[in-house]
Order: sequence, then C-alpha cells, then structure tokens
Amino acid sequence: MSHPSVSSGPSGDLVPRHIAVIMDGNGRWAAERGLPRHAGHREGMKAVREIIRGCIDSGVEILTLFAFSTENWQRPEEEIVALMTLLQIYADQEKEELREKGVEVRVLGDLARVDGPTHDAVERIESATRGGAKMRLNLMISYSGRADIVSACRALARRVRDGTLDPDAIDEETISDDLLTEDLPDPDLLIRTSGEFRISNFMLWQLAYTEIYITPVLWPDFTREDLLDAVVEYQRRERRFGRISSS
Ligand code: FPP
Repeated sequence: MSHPSVSSGPSGDLVPRHIAVIMDGNGRWAAERGLPRHAGHREGMKAVREIIRGCIDSGVEILTLFAFSTENWQRPEEEIVALMTLLQIYADQEKEELREKGVEVRVLGDLARVDGPTHDAVERIESATRGGAKMRLNLMISYSGRADIVSACRALARRVRDGTLDPDAIDEETISDDLLTEDLPDPDLLIRTSGEFRISNFMLWQLAYTEIYITPVLWPDFTREDLLDAVVEYQRRERRFGRISSS
C-alpha cells in the first residue's frame, strides 16, 4: 500500500507536535489466535517500539501512551501482574536505546498503587533517559483523566484554604498547571485503535480541541504506516478551535 507524503494536505501544521494514543485491542488480537490475553499485551509492546520509531522519524515532539488505566486495576490479578511485569521488561530492555535516541521517558499516573519492582523499573527508565531532547515519551500508568482533575481540584482547594490562592484567580491555566501533564501542550492528535468510539477516561481536560483518529487496526498490528495514515488524515483536517474557517 502506498502512502501520501506526510507533508501533503491543507493543514499549516505539518506534523502534530503531540500525539496521544489509546492502545486498544490486545485482548481481541490474542483471542483471534486462541492465545491468552497476556500474549496480546506482549505483542503490543512491539507496536510501542514501532510507533516510537515512527514518531521520532516524523519529528513528533511528544508521544503519550495510555498503557494502564485506573479502571484496569479491576482486571483479574493475573492480567495485572502480566502487565506490570511487561512494563518492567520494557523499561529495562528499552532504556538504553531510548537514551541513545534522545527520548526522555516520564511515567505519569497514580504510582502509589504500583508494586515495588515496577516502581523501581519506572525510576530506572526515567533516570536513564532524563534530559533527552529529541522526543518526550509519556507512559500513562494507573492513570485516569477524572482522577487527575480531582487531584488538581484538591490541590487548588488546599491553596484556597491556606489563603495562597484567590478563587477568582483560578483560570484554565491554573488547572492545567496542576494536572500530571503540567509541562506539556495539549495533544494535537488522538489515535485510538480497535475501532472503539470512546475516550475511556483518557486526558479529559487536555483533549478539548484534539483531532481524533480511530482505526479498526488492533493495537498489536499497528505499524509505522498506520501512524503515517493518521498523520496524513490529521493534515487534511482544518483545526478551528471553536472559531469559524480562516479561508
Ligand atoms: C488495551 O487492550 C490495552 C491495555 C490495557 C494495555 C496496553 C499495554 C501494552 C500495549 C503493552 C505494554 C506497554 C508498554 C508501554 C510496556 P485490551 O486488553 O483492553 O484489549 P481488548 O479490548 O481487545 O480486550
């Protein structure tokens, strides 16, 4: 299959600066092959490598991957253990290459719920890649958009109670600055695999004006070409941010 150039299309923004991804369909990929769910997650790790390489080559500055949601804690213990183990394996296998490529990795979410070995692996990959200037990779673990907003509300309420914040001074920037993504611009493009038309509690605040691209491809089958398809589709969109057309 041939792919149009990523620089074609009417959009002035050639390449999205920040791409966020809901990596869905690992379980279905495994079920289609009569394999256990964890085999789908393991295969999904390959697609993670693929999209990172594609983003680096395309000049994407920030990639945010939804790897484990707050709701995922309700999955069977066996699957949770498999996902945490995979994260540890990923961190230790990839940290050197990511460092060499200039990728700074940050793991964002409620890490208080994560077990000790996973916590240590998170620290290892974050410290090994600190300062990487080519691309920022955010792995969202034990994350939910609503929980992040609740946590920001609590932090702001404490400052109001302590007399250091005037409620009338609270604006969108104040709230953005208290989210886990405080230092990041909002995503330009959200990709969701496996054909589901849902946000699933991901980056609820930050996705306000994000372009959404949904593909039927199951996450373990997602390739660099699928990434380019999403970017080309993004380039065809006209982003208006609630305003009228500029043409
Ligand atoms: C959703 O598919 C995917 C997950 C809950 C986990 C995502 C994890 C990975 C891609 C692998 C590890 C990632 C890193 C960064 C090491 P699902 O299980 O909900 O699939 P289904 O909807 O088909 O059941």
